[in-house]
Formats: sequence, C-alpha cells, structure tokens
Amino acid sequence: MPGKLVVGNWKMNGDLRHNDALLAGLRAGWPVRATREISVCVPFPYLWQAQAALSGSAISWGAQNVSEHAHGAYTGEVAASMIAEFGCRYVIVGHSERRTLYGETDAMVAAKAGATLQAGMTPIVCVGESWAERESGAGESVVVRQLDAVVSRIGGRIAETVVAYEPVWAIGTGRSATPELAQAVHEVLRKRLREHGEAAGNVSLLYGGSVKAGNAKALFACADIDGGLIGGASLNVDEFLAIAGA
Ligand code: PGA
Repeated sequence: MPGKLVVGNWKMNGDLRHNDALLAGLRAGWPVRATREISVCVPFPYLWQAQAALSGSAISWGAQNVSEHAHGAYTGEVAASMIAEFGCRYVIVGHSERRTLYGETDAMVAAKAGATLQAGMTPIVCVGESWAERESGAGESVVVRQLDAVVSRIGGRIAETVVAYEPVWAIGTGRSATPELAQAVHEVLRKRLREHGEAAGNVSLLYGGSVKAGNAKALFACADIDGGLIGGASLNVDEFLAIAGA
C-alpha cells in the first residue's frame, strides 16, 4: 500500500517571523500518531529553522530543488549532501516552475533525483503537462516521458521516490483538475510504475495544483491519489492542516 502523504511547497515565500508561527502552528496541530505523513518543503535558508522547529515532531521537512552535481565550481548551487545535513527527508525535483522558468530538462531532473537518493533523501519527482499539451491530446504522453526519463537514470530506485502529478495549468490558478481527470492520469502513472516491479507500483502518487481544504477530500478519495503537493494553501496553518486531515 502506498503511504499517504501531504507535502507543503512554500515556494519562495516566508521570513523568519512568519515561518516560526507557521511551523509552531503545524507542530501544535498535527497529532504524533497521525496515519498520514505531512512534510514542508521550504526555501534553502530556512532549512535550519524547519529542522529546529520540527525535530521530534511527526512532521518532516525538505527542500524545493537541488544541484545535480555533488560539489565543485557551481556558484549559487546547493548540493544534496548539504541539504541532507539539515535532516531533510524530501527534495522536490522537476517542479514545473523549475522546468519552465529555469530551463530544467528531463535529463537534469533525472540527475537531481539521482543526487537526492545518493544523499539518502527521497526525491518528490514532479511531472505535468501544459494546457496546450493537454488540448493537443499529448497530456499523458508528456507525463510518461517525464517519468521515463527519471527511470532511465535511476532504474529500480524509482521505488524509493514519491511522484507528484501537477498539471501546469492547475498550479496557482485556482483551477484544480477534477478528481476524475487527476485519477485518470494517476492511473496511467501507476501502470507505468508497475512495469518496474511491485515496489515501484507502490510509490506514493501525489496530486498538486490548486488543492484547497474544499477540494482535497474528493481528490484524496481517488484510488490512485495518495496525497497532495500543496503550494499556496500550505502557507496557512488551518488550511494546510485541514487538507492534511481530509
Ligand atoms: P498550488 O501549487 O497549490 O499553489 O497550485 C502547487 C505546487 O506548485 O506545488
């Protein structure tokens, strides 16, 4: 059975004061014996703050990006080993904002997933099609291509990842995919993963894109949706906890 997981993606938001309140609120509000796992992926400078605030709680934390390189002359980049030093469990790789705004290719995303695993953390591999790709009927082939690129790099270790389906047109737009549409794509991804063995078929498949407290329950009720990757709504304690509990 895939693990149930809800991950907050803070993106480039937050400051020391607001983070303190948000992290303390999550810690106070999330039961230690919860059956679902929750995690927050924060900007690099705040990894230490997440670690300090959440250590010993039921909430894990992680980063939103990583270098594909281990170390060296890559000014401005952050290595997986550095992220691991802050107790991170997850690293988001291949978020559509990285792919579209920063030109990350399938091959780079795959290398980042490999670097994350190498450092003992779990990559959350994001895949998703644009509206134009969906309209042209290429939606499913795009997400399969993005997934296959990662598998071709890390092989059977795909079983040690989390995969997030985030249709680009649903991110930050308030226009979430319907549960039916999201489930259909998750089913395609699940089938593809199963081709790599039972463990690969059991990775947690998250849906992301305008998930709110109001639509989370219907999305999470779908057979192949194991949780969510939450952007905007993860910046509010009550909203995020309501989603996590949905
Ligand atoms: P959103 O973002 O929830 O604000 O749509 C999701 C994401 O980009 O991970």
